[in-house]
Amino acid sequence: MRLTARGLGHRFDDQPFLFRNVDLDLEAGRTYAVTGPSGSGKTTLLSILAGWVRPTEGEVDRGDASTVGWVFQNPHGVFQRTALDHVSLPFIAAGSSRADADRHASALLEDFGLGHRAETRFSALSGGEAQRLLLARGIAAAPALLLVDEPTAQLDPLTSATVNAALGAAAGRRSIVVIATHDAGTRDACTDHIDMATFA
Ligand SMILES: Nc1ncnc2c1ncn2[C@@H]1O[C@H](COP(=O)(O)OP(=O)(O)OP(=O)(O)O)[C@@H](O)[C@H]1O
Ligand SMILES: [Mg+2]
Repeated sequence: MRLTARGLGHRFDDQPFLFRNVDLDLEAGRTYAVTGPSGSGKTTLLSILAGWVRPTEGEVDRGDASTVGWVFQNPHGVFQRTALDHVSLPFIAAGSSRADADRHASALLEDFGLGHRAETRFSALSGGEAQRLLLARGIAAAPALLLVDEPTAQLDPLTSATVNAALGAAAGRRSIVVIATHDAGTRDACTDHIDMATFA
C-alpha cells in the first residue's frame, strides 16, 4: 500500500498559501508525524490526504488505499456501549468471531492503558480515556490510511507517553498512519516526520 502526493499546495479563498510544493511518498507500516505551528495547515493536509478537501494545486494518488479512518480531536463514541464493544466491533465487522474480536480488542485496550476500563460505558470515560479508546478503535479497523489529529492534546504527560508508545506499535500493522501533532513525544514515536515549516 502506497500513497503519493505531488506538488500539493493549498490556500483558502483569497488567503495566502498555507503550503506549497508538498511531495509525499507514504507507505503502509510506517507512521508519519505532521508537525508545525497552529494554523500551519496540518489538519488541512490530513483532509486533503483523506480526499475530503481538494487541494488548490497538485495531486494525491491514493492507489489501492481505499479505506480511510480518522480519529478526531474531540472523541465521539456510543454512550451506552462499553469500551470493549467499541474496539471489538471493527474486528467483528471484518469477519472475526465475537471471542476472537474480544481477545484482539482486549489486547489493544491494554496497549492504550485501558485494560481496566474494558467494561466501562463510553459515557463514563474521561476525555483522555475516550480519546485513547477511539485511537484503539481506529487501529482495530485497520484502514489503508489512518489519520489522527492531535491524539495527546488533552492528555497528561504520563498518559501521553502510553498513547505515544501504542501509536509507535501501530506502525507494525498494515495501515499508513499520519498523525498531526504538537507533542515531541508523539513525533519521536513515529517512524517519519513531515514538518510543515519546510513547505511554507
Ligand atoms: N474551511 C476553511 N475555510 C477557511 N479557512 C480555513 C478553513 N479550514 C482552515 N482554515 C484556516 O487555514 C489555516 C490552517 O488551518 P489548519 O486547521 O489546517 O491548521 P493546523 O495546523 O491544523 O492548526 P492547529 O495546530 O491549531 O490544529 C488556519 O488559519 C485556519 O483558520
Ligand atoms: Mg489542526
